[in-house]
Amino acid sequence: MFMQIFGLKTQVILGEGSLSRLKKIVSSYDRVLLLVSRSMAREGFLKEAEDYISEAGAEVESIAGISAEPSYEYVEEILPRAREFQPELIAAIGGGSVIDVAKAVKVFYDAPGTAFDEIAFFSRFQKPKPIPRLKTHLVAIPSTSGAGSEVSGASVLKRDGVKYNIVSFEIAPNFAVLDPRLPVTMPAEVARNSGLDVLVHAIESYVSKAATPLSDAMAVKAAEAVFSWLPESVEGNEKARENMHYAATMAGIAFLNGRLGLCHAMSHKGAWMAPHGLLNAILHPYVMEFNMREEKARFRYRKLAKELGMKDEKELLEKVRELNEMLGVPALNEIVDEKKFLAKLDEMSKKAYHDPLINFNPVEPTVDEIKELYLEAYKGK
Ligand SMILES: [Fe+2]
Repeated sequence: MFMQIFGLKTQVILGEGSLSRLKKIVSSYDRVLLLVSRSMAREGFLKEAEDYISEAGAEVESIAGISAEPSYEYVEEILPRAREFQPELIAAIGGGSVIDVAKAVKVFYDAPGTAFDEIAFFSRFQKPKPIPRLKTHLVAIPSTSGAGSEVSGASVLKRDGVKYNIVSFEIAPNFAVLDPRLPVTMPAEVARNSGLDVLVHAIESYVSKAATPLSDAMAVKAAEAVFSWLPESVEGNEKARENMHYAATMAGIAFLNGRLGLCHAMSHKGAWMAPHGLLNAILHPYVMEFNMREEKARFRYRKLAKELGMKDEKELLEKVRELNEMLGVPALNEIVDEKKFLAKLDEMSKKAYHDPLINFNPVEPTVDEIKELYLEAYKGK
């Protein structure tokens, strides 16, 4: 027997003005903890959300200014406020980082005896302790279009400049609200970096060992949207921003099920070098080329290329490179100090080799091959 599973826990609400749905969502809860990024507070969405929650008759406690690329220590700082307020629902408005913080707060608030070191994935050769049943519900309202955290069961947190994952169906949000008014406010650079991450999510989940025909459908539509809309989205076109916003969630559904691969393993372990989406975009062509050494992987890239109306896998790789070039993605050596890079290279390569996402990559790399890939991306050959 051969059996695969595809699932989505999250009810997704989308469309302009859909933030107002918060009023209906919170109507069955008494206390709502609202975590909001600095920019979403500044743009007036904190106030708007607070109003919906109050109108629904629930009590609200807001924490604004949630930091980007958060660490576990940062989550520990917020926890006492959650414990004091005792929310039944946590709502997060912001980029992937804010949603990831909300997920982590939920874990340690609901299961106080749990330690980060026990539940985070440190190595694919060592299984973490499973996360127990959690009771607090979660609403994710993304303001950027990339991370896919609004539907995924992963929370990525930094420790000592390295990113580790907490992964559980328990932390996948109950609701995701995709209101295109939010991503319209993204700076061009954020639109570019997060949008490029969508493409990496789509392609890595499509060629993954865990891909299914259902995750493939989401991945193809997401990749198609990136090639069609990302350049205009970066320029600020509102329709393009809206399409990219939905594409990010589609890619999120693709990788929630199909998982990711070597590129994300390398970017998580080299997280100190650049923002997540940008680093993925820099590394991805090298990882694609590496994977294409083996026919079974080439076959998957070729299949995806054809679904996207391209001739073969070589054209797909070319299009990925062209998009990077068009959007001004630099080589690593333009943004990272060589001495620091070389000093960290061995450690990053070993840690990436241990990353659980390697299990899903179509080709198993050695530590030396990962090192070589970092070096190639650094030189920008
Ligand atoms: Fe990503």
